[in-house]
Amino acid sequence: MLPFYGRRLSRKTKRFNSFDLENFDFFFNEINFSDIKKKLIKSCQNVNLEIGFGRGENLIFQSQNTKKDIFLAIDPFISGGLKLKKKIEILKISNIFFSNATFSQFLEIVGDINFKKIFILFPDPWPKKKHKKRRLINEEFVKNLDKITLKYSEILIATDDEDYSNQILKSFSEQNFFKLLSMTSDNQIFEDYKIYPTKYFRKAKRENRRINLFIYQK
Ligand SMILES: C[S@@+](CC[C@H](N)C(=O)[O-])C[C@H]1O[C@@H](n2cnc3c(N)ncnc32)[C@H](O)[C@@H]1O
Repeated sequence: MLPFYGRRLSRKTKRFNSFDLENFDFFFNEINFSDIKKKLIKSCQNVNLEIGFGRGENLIFQSQNTKKDIFLAIDPFISGGLKLKKKIEILKISNIFFSNATFSQFLEIVGDINFKKIFILFPDPWPKKKHKKRRLINEEFVKNLDKITLKYSEILIATDDEDYSNQILKSFSEQNFFKLLSMTSDNQIFEDYKIYPTKYFRKAKRENRRINLFIYQK
């Protein structure tokens, strides 16, 4: 299992009570996830996933654009989860369930749910050579995506790191489970594909870095 090397709390999160999240109806963990799974199976709605939702900007946007779908989302960054909780409450959203699980932890509980779309926006790039092993997307990850998707499921990945872009291309092409539908670095891409310009999208643009968006389909 890939350990999590990132930050769990931001410096600004001064007080954090785990009950704030654990008692929230739309938060899941390994204990209550089976109840959510039952609901999903009964409902027959499309289910999407966002891995590394950050502050939940794209997640909220997608959930409002496609109200008929359900969105599961995972990110161990608790400060982001607390922000997302507030937005869910304010906007009275009922089609998002989120967790602070890592992708590896989520795989252990996900069971036979298959996702229609999986968003991975700006996964941590770990640019130093000695840290590349920490990257989320590698061949093993692609094999795992195969287990949680069906024919025509889509995987949408954005990154502003050229070396990671090459690793993404290589990991998918060596596994052959998904075909590359589109690979673009046009400035308009997020608008065209109806993806929210997240914090890391805006940062990359401000710093004039090229953003690559990959869309794979099973
Ligand atoms: C660079 S941030 C991007 C956040 C957001 N997607 C955006 O575009 O603003 C990467 C996020 O991925 C999360 N992350 C890192 N490893 C993860 C893992 N194994 N499973 C789920 N999320 C992970 C981090 O906590 C962080 O919030």
